[in-house]
Amino acid sequence: MQIYHANIIHTPERQRFEVIPHGYVAVSDGRVEGVYRELPAHLADCPVTDWGDRLLIPAMNDMHVHAPQYRNQGIAMDEELLPWLQNYTFPEELKYADTAYAARMYRHFVHDLWRHGTMRAVAFASVHFESTRILMRLLDDAGMGGRVGKVNMNRNCPEGLQESVEEARAACDALVQEFEREDSRVRPIVTPRFIPSCTPDLLAACGEMARRYHLPVQSHLSENHDEIALVRALEPESRHYADAYDRYGLLGPSTVMAHCVWTDGDEFEMLRQRGVMVAHCPTSNFNVASGLAPVRRFLDAGIPVGLGSDVSAGHDFSIFRMMVYAIQVSKMHYERDHSCAFLTLSEAFWMATKCAGAFFGRVGSFEPGYDFDALVIDDSPLVIDDSYTLLQRLERFVYIGDDRHIAARYCQGRLIPDPLSIP
Ligand code: GUN
Ligand code: FE
Repeated sequence: MQIYHANIIHTPERQRFEVIPHGYVAVSDGRVEGVYRELPAHLADCPVTDWGDRLLIPAMNDMHVHAPQYRNQGIAMDEELLPWLQNYTFPEELKYADTAYAARMYRHFVHDLWRHGTMRAVAFASVHFESTRILMRLLDDAGMGGRVGKVNMNRNCPEGLQESVEEARAACDALVQEFEREDSRVRPIVTPRFIPSCTPDLLAACGEMARRYHLPVQSHLSENHDEIALVRALEPESRHYADAYDRYGLLGPSTVMAHCVWTDGDEFEMLRQRGVMVAHCPTSNFNVASGLAPVRRFLDAGIPVGLGSDVSAGHDFSIFRMMVYAIQVSKMHYERDHSCAFLTLSEAFWMATKCAGAFFGRVGSFEPGYDFDALVIDDSPLVIDDSYTLLQRLERFVYIGDDRHIAARYCQGRLIPDPLSIP
């Protein structure tokens, strides 16, 4: 048993923070045993890591990020989605046929997740099998967790990014062989890129792979008007964009769909009924001019929502910054429609931690039985006055703090060093 002593803040419930000033978390075998205001007598002899006056919070989960777009972070912001893909994104992803390039870039990608306090990610790799393995090994070697998808795509993109259905199946079989174990932190996820990139036989194969191996699924949904019109033209017999996935069995409680900016009506109801999680990516939705996702409506309907950086349509790895942007997006919604209340900080924090974490098991809270995924926040440079409450300190860190204030990172109870320090 290991005890951690700090100012503990988490969100067991969406509507409110639980704050335990100078409290204790007991961790055994990587899992939380309990959180205490006073150290119980039976734990008195356990070793204590004393983080003093620092904040101890759950680690971040990035529910949508594209690893092979790492080099393009912060550039190429002058197009909407479809030309952005063709002109900037596909040319960059083509480079991942070269495993040496992939290894070099993915090392820095994993470091950047770590740097921003993201201990679990649901990531897109590229269409390339060997490069995807490299990314999964790097994440695992780092001690971080997540789901990584070898992307499936076979139309409307350069030839070098197109695979056959047989290649898609063989790659999935091999990745499952290598990575899909109950105890592995980094596991595969079926990843049809989006409907415009996948022929019906590839989508059908994706559905079969997900069913055969009980794998989760990730993709993009209703992000942009031109994209939605293209899907309508490509799949005229589908009732709407979500239906084009659903007819291949790709929507379920272990599916995460990025964006859903324009999801409403029957499509909204379908996501709710299937139990799909939405990955809200506010910076991406700004940068490629997609629109404002109706997050409050999803939450109020019981549709789970996590936050995603969507690098490189999104420019920022920080899930803390995503909380701020998600709140700001909801305020723009509110400004147009006062019947839809804007998000609170506890709701945004809950989305990024406990709500998203459910995708990985018991992750994202300090309740008993949860994996101890945690960040130690040394916000002392931001505490310019001793009148701040603990929640105000957290709020200031979320709004104006950055990776310099993250003093330590834990995943499943292990202290995670900088992945760049691993030879
Ligand atoms: N839709 C299909 N591919 C992508 C991608 O790489 N980024 C975003 N934002 N949307 C997509
Ligand atoms: Fe994306």
